[in-house]
Amino acid sequence: MFGNPVYSEIIDSALESAEFPSSPENLYAPVRYILSLAGKRIRPQLVFLGADIFGHTDVASLLPASKAIEYFHNFSLIHDDIMDKAPLRRGKPTVHKRWNDNIAILSGDALLVKAYEELANCPIEVVPSLLKAFNKVALEVCEGQQLDMDFEERNNVSEEEYIDMIRLKTSVLLGGALEIGAIIAKATFENTHYIYNFGVNLGIAFQLQDDILDAFGDPHSFGKQVGGDIIVNKKTILHILLKKSLLEADVDSFNAIMSMKSDVSSQKVEGMLGLYDKYDILKAANSLKEYYTAQAYTNLKQIDVPEGSKSQLFDLADKLMYRSR
Ligand code: IPE
Ligand code: IPE
Ligand code: MG
Ligand code: MG
Ligand code: MG
Repeated sequence: MFGNPVYSEIIDSALESAEFPSSPENLYAPVRYILSLAGKRIRPQLVFLGADIFGHTDVASLLPASKAIEYFHNFSLIHDDIMDKAPLRRGKPTVHKRWNDNIAILSGDALLVKAYEELANCPIEVVPSLLKAFNKVALEVCEGQQLDMDFEERNNVSEEEYIDMIRLKTSVLLGGALEIGAIIAKATFENTHYIYNFGVNLGIAFQLQDDILDAFGDPHSFGKQVGGDIIVNKKTILHILLKKSLLEADVDSFNAIMSMKSDVSSQKVEGMLGLYDKYDILKAANSLKEYYTAQAYTNLKQIDVPEGSKSQLFDLADKLMYRSR
């Protein structure tokens, strides 16, 4: 469990009791399926915690936005798994594998609409602000996802370009979830800005850990295919850091691994892990992750509320950095 156990239970039971029509079966069964799988559900937590830090704990006013964010996240995962050719999600077959690509596209679309349906149920006076924040984030996620795919075909992606890509595909949604909580809590403009920045830096560290787990995770707890990023030549932080320190003597073997096709995927993963090991890439990636976590803590300190109110966010950030799934 990540975050406050009381909120966690509220979120779990809201998602579990959400009802979807029985027909068409191939549209709604994948929606029920993805939502029933045990995700960490950290983004709906962040909506609650983004309000709680400002003393706003009214569940009814926060739950619709919290669900909207989790629906949007699950929509993005269903489509992401098609784009990344991923076979596993949360320890189970991905929607496009269990059904097919067309069903995955459409059930993802339905979840996006469900997200907007929930936004319309938020406290009426803040709906325009929430929509503005949500739409900005949603479009940025699409931008990040496009860059992520464009980078698969490129061999000169810089660390700076990579960080900006993950800021868009992943971090702004964490920042946006906190921002939405803060808007519902009617936090000041400055505090809303600081908590959003906290979420963005936390999100960068979060995606760095995601990249790390993709190569070094334990297949039993990770829930996704270990090595999946290596197989599709994803420009992860591990790849970027390796390229930066690669010695002339290893360039040929690096290029040979990069051009291996999916029929030799286990050899490809093994070969790349060998290079990561040789250049101590895990250590370098972890220290970058710690840098962004420290940046996030700096943002959290800037928020003008009693220090004691910040402990839940400190604890969640800490737990996320060392997670195994
Ligand atoms: C996966 O997000 C997508 C990324 C942005 C890395 P999570 O790691 O939060 O996935 P779930 O929801 O817990 O399965
Ligand atoms: C996912 O990044 C970002 C979005 C879903 C928008 P990844 O492709 O790294 O996420 P995982 O590893 O499949 O969960
Ligand atoms: Mg993916
Ligand atoms: Mg992806
Ligand atoms: Mg990943």
